[in-house]
Amino acid sequence: MMMPMAPGQAAACYVNAPGTLPPRRYRSASFNRRRTMITAAATAATMTAPEKADVLRSLDGWAESNLLPLLKPADRSWQPHDLLPDSSSPGFRDGVDELRARAAEIPDDLFVCLVGNMVTEEALPTYHAALNSFVGYDRPTAADAWARWSRGWTAEENRHGDLLNRYLYLTGRVDVRAVEQTIHHLITAGMRLPSDGCPYRGFIYTAFQERATAISHGNTARRAGQLGDASLARICGAISGDERRHEAAYTRVVGELFRMTPDAAVRALEYMMRERILMPAAHMFDGRDRDLFRHYAAVAQGLGVYTTADYADLVEFFVERWGVAGLGEGLTGEGRRAQEYVCRLPERVRKMERLDARRRQAQTRRVPFSWVFDRQVQLQL
Ligand SMILES: [Fe+2]
Ligand SMILES: [Fe+2]
Repeated sequence: MMMPMAPGQAAACYVNAPGTLPPRRYRSASFNRRRTMITAAATAATMTAPEKADVLRSLDGWAESNLLPLLKPADRSWQPHDLLPDSSSPGFRDGVDELRARAAEIPDDLFVCLVGNMVTEEALPTYHAALNSFVGYDRPTAADAWARWSRGWTAEENRHGDLLNRYLYLTGRVDVRAVEQTIHHLITAGMRLPSDGCPYRGFIYTAFQERATAISHGNTARRAGQLGDASLARICGAISGDERRHEAAYTRVVGELFRMTPDAAVRALEYMMRERILMPAAHMFDGRDRDLFRHYAAVAQGLGVYTTADYADLVEFFVERWGVAGLGEGLTGEGRRAQEYVCRLPERVRKMERLDARRRQAQTRRVPFSWVFDRQVQLQL
């Protein structure tokens, strides 16, 4: 994990044209070429998305030494088969029987959370494409550090959907076809990423998502452990551990953007906070329930797997980690307004959550989920 920035550190490295450009030592040749082509009026107000992508590309050496070490090579990584009954072993059937006996003790609401988490992981092609768009490395042969990070990260993520998918298949507790249809719909629908082509916003979104998924898988692991299923707890815990490493990586990236271009970074953070960070699987659909994501999110909220309070904690964590309150001289007026907004946000989210919790308590319902053969699950909306 990166160390928190000292107050004022970002402003200290930032001397020229506050709020618009990275320090000269970070500017690539293409950045400077493009810089001469755009008007002074445009740059006086804000950095453009291509300029921001140039800043990121100029960090290729930094990514080599600060990001790539956070990936684990294949021979030192867990693989889904390590955490499931060995299909080539004579004891496979006994292993599956044990797995199913343990799964019989897990209630449907936790299965809904597991399926929702798995469906989210399975839309990985969408996230891989989005990540490549941030820095513009979409060639599968690219050898730059960003491109290698993107492929290595995707390889790690690919295990998450595989593991949960195989586990759920073996339990016999979920309607596999309904789940598969949901994945099909989700990848077809894509995702809503309100970054508007801005790579700073994209990386902020990704940092939030990695921490959110680490929390969600971690809480699911805890719940499985409380229910006496140590194997399922290990499965969710292994995924959560990966998400923590990914969170550390993307938090470092955004931390570096705050250090180099604090004004652009804080304004990107404010933009994303006003848009509100939505789960990437918000478009999930099983072919029947148009409110499927809202229903799944309500079950997760009720079980404490991922809650609005977690979201408030997330905002507070990143505001502190990126040293937002300590940003000083490098900020424009817009930047200062953005800083003020995001620093106050955790308190506002918590206040809204308290009001919302009271409202929710009065609205308990039972909703059928196709994922668990239309059995009804209690939730509060
Ligand atoms: Fe994941
Ligand atoms: Fe991840």
